[in-house]
Amino acid sequence: MKNMGICWKCVFVFVIFMTVFSACEPELTLDYYVKTCPAVLDIVRKEMECAVLSDPRNAALVVRLHFHDCFVQGCDGSILLDDTYTLRGEKKASTNIHSLKGFSIIDRIKNKLEYECPGIVSCADILTIAARDAVILVGGPYWDVPLGRKDSTTASYDLANSNLPTSDQPLLTIISKFLYQGLSVTDMVALSGAHTIGMARCENFRARIYGDFESTSDKLNPNSQTYASNLRSICPTAGGGDNNITAMDYVTPNLFDNSFYQILLRGEGLLNSDQAMYSSLLAMETKSLVTKYAHDSIAFFQQFSESMVKMGNITNQDTGQVRRNCRFINA
Ligand code: HEM
Repeated sequence: MKNMGICWKCVFVFVIFMTVFSACEPELTLDYYVKTCPAVLDIVRKEMECAVLSDPRNAALVVRLHFHDCFVQGCDGSILLDDTYTLRGEKKASTNIHSLKGFSIIDRIKNKLEYECPGIVSCADILTIAARDAVILVGGPYWDVPLGRKDSTTASYDLANSNLPTSDQPLLTIISKFLYQGLSVTDMVALSGAHTIGMARCENFRARIYGDFESTSDKLNPNSQTYASNLRSICPTAGGGDNNITAMDYVTPNLFDNSFYQILLRGEGLLNSDQAMYSSLLAMETKSLVTKYAHDSIAFFQQFSESMVKMGNITNQDTGQVRRNCRFINA
């Protein structure tokens, strides 16, 4: 045996390694519900069509929900859990409170699915498909969604506070939060392109418009100056108006396109964190990616799709369930 040159010890170690490794691999597949709930994609799409038709902002709400779900314990629907006596949810964490919305859209889809195929489709999968459909419905790219996530039986208020990036954090802190999730700088810049839709509250852009907005934008451009003074009227210097909102992409607020990056090139980004990707002294790689996506919307769409799949594949390794109601774990 020895003469055959096979290291049996190595084979043994390899087999053990592969067994352990494959046990940790997410079991996500494109045809996960083909036999058990073939209508799943149609049902989600129809409900998302109604939601986005009634208000295009709903697309943004759902995309952000998915992001905030995946960065805390993986994409496991933990963001959807309500507080109970025994469970502290993530909805009241600092980045989410008064800010995260769209839960009722997911409830509506879940109700339809529970009627059609009870106990089959997880809330985490619903959110992932809904986010993809949301992007398409406002003009963004299509991508196939791997499925088969389970819903968590826990949530983490503390991880929601620590893992999610905020608009006033330095670029390097935000990059490290993406790296921690297994996402690259390229993923970060491309996924931030989701800010091409949706709104931000004054609380999150006050520091920017009374801070370095003037120094990054063109002081000689009257349009830029009008924009800045509009923002200041929406968001007064101190106190009051914290929840007043404005679009992050003031050019095409309801369209998923690359104008968000073009705004950053002009130094007119609404959030400190967004503008930093282009204007920070440390922005080397991020700056060239922003420039690339500003000039090439196909490159942006391709990378966004790829990065959304990657983010959606952050799984929770704990044993989960398929919740009957996305807001509560099954009794
Ligand atoms: C890179 C780090 C990020 C930071 C610091 C950040 C921060 C923010 C902030 C402060 C808001 C406004 C919330 C409010 O004022 O209530 C916001 C909105 C939004 N974010 Fe992000 N975000 C980041 C990345 C992402 C990613 C990766 C996605 C999705 C892939 C995303 C999707 C959205 C969407 C769609 C909205 C608009 C939601 C609405 O209309 O209510 N963001 N983000």
